[in-house]
Amino acid sequence: MNENLIKELFDFIESSPSCFHVIHNMKEILISQGYVPLLESEPWTLKKGGRYFVTRNGSSLIAFRIPEKDPRGFQIMASHSDSPCFKIKENPELEAEGHYIKLNVEKYGGMLMAPWFDRPLSVAGRVLIRDNGRILPRLINIDRDLLMIPNLAIHMCREINDGMKYNVQKDMLPLYGDAAAKGCFLKQIAEEAGTTAENILGCDLFLYNRMPGSIWGAEREFMSIGKLDDLECAYSSLKGFLEAGENTSIPVHCVFDNEEVGSTTRQGAASTFLRDTLITICEGLGKTHGEYRRMLTASLMLSSDNAHGVHPNYPEKACPSNRPYLNGGVVIKFSANQKYTTDGAAAALFREICRRAEAPCQVYTNRSDVPGGSTLGNISGTQVAVNTVDIGLAQLAMHSPYETAGTKDLAYLVRAVREFFGASIHMDAEGAYLLA
Ligand code: CO
Repeated sequence: MNENLIKELFDFIESSPSCFHVIHNMKEILISQGYVPLLESEPWTLKKGGRYFVTRNGSSLIAFRIPEKDPRGFQIMASHSDSPCFKIKENPELEAEGHYIKLNVEKYGGMLMAPWFDRPLSVAGRVLIRDNGRILPRLINIDRDLLMIPNLAIHMCREINDGMKYNVQKDMLPLYGDAAAKGCFLKQIAEEAGTTAENILGCDLFLYNRMPGSIWGAEREFMSIGKLDDLECAYSSLKGFLEAGENTSIPVHCVFDNEEVGSTTRQGAASTFLRDTLITICEGLGKTHGEYRRMLTASLMLSSDNAHGVHPNYPEKACPSNRPYLNGGVVIKFSANQKYTTDGAAAALFREICRRAEAPCQVYTNRSDVPGGSTLGNISGTQVAVNTVDIGLAQLAMHSPYETAGTKDLAYLVRAVREFFGASIHMDAEGAYLLA
């Protein structure tokens, strides 16, 4: 286990309580490494050897480098910045019994609800404030234990352990304060944003779990923290991208928002963000649209999103012959209906990259009688059609606010990503690759 690397990931996740913070923190890291921020609204001047990034909505980010030699294609790794959670609704305060103030929330994505009970929570996200004739975004994080969703006592619901159906509008509303807290919530948010409640014109605020990361198990082989899906992949992507040597393609680190709600937003994987960025890079290098299309044929994408490891208490839920375990290495995901985009050719290439990186890899497929999920690759492929491998790391309790993964796997993925971004890959005949 590389404990420093895990501490880095924990620091990153703990300082990224919302998708906006994820992108803000990535920007800071990129800037510290000499990357130049670009705006979609301005023309780009790109130089050979230049390092750049662009964001959309403050919640999606694409970083890239221009190689010294004329690039052959793009080597892209995609991941997502969002995680399932509860979003605070407009006018959130609700009074109960004249004695409590609770907050009105709705679901963002599909989450395990039970683990949100009885643990300290707080609020983070973005507010839009009026400031001297402008409207400005401000990230906020109330960095203390602020809220709790208390369970109903067993005495009042004897059947609760027989499987409870949770109703978000009734069961999942977090307790904010006693009667004296009436009218305080927006004021508190405004104070955190350095303004007054009247100047807050818009909010994108989410609940998050306050519990810090933990390394545990007999040999410290496991780790748990919120948002491993997908910040474990997003952080590995950034790290491998930054550490890789130069090759003959343009390396692209790409983090999309809104994967958990179907990706069909302006900044999601189904949007034009990646395509617009790649085309603008080509324009900045004086390339024609034909050259852009030819570059795509020489490109490869890793679509990275965590995978389900075999669960010790529910081994029957996994495919009988493909059984990914925690600490078993990078997971390659397959599905015949191409919800995961990996095919034999793309898998072959990625296996070779893992072999060179000395990173073990394993395979995930759904049970043949269970419809599986989908992720970024096949959605993004409708906008930018490149050969894609769906990968991730094995984890348990996916979409819980406290997820579990293996402590060895993170280093395997970082090594594989570094190898991927550093390798010169090109297709020299349909389905045949040269890897240098
Ligand atoms: Co995910």
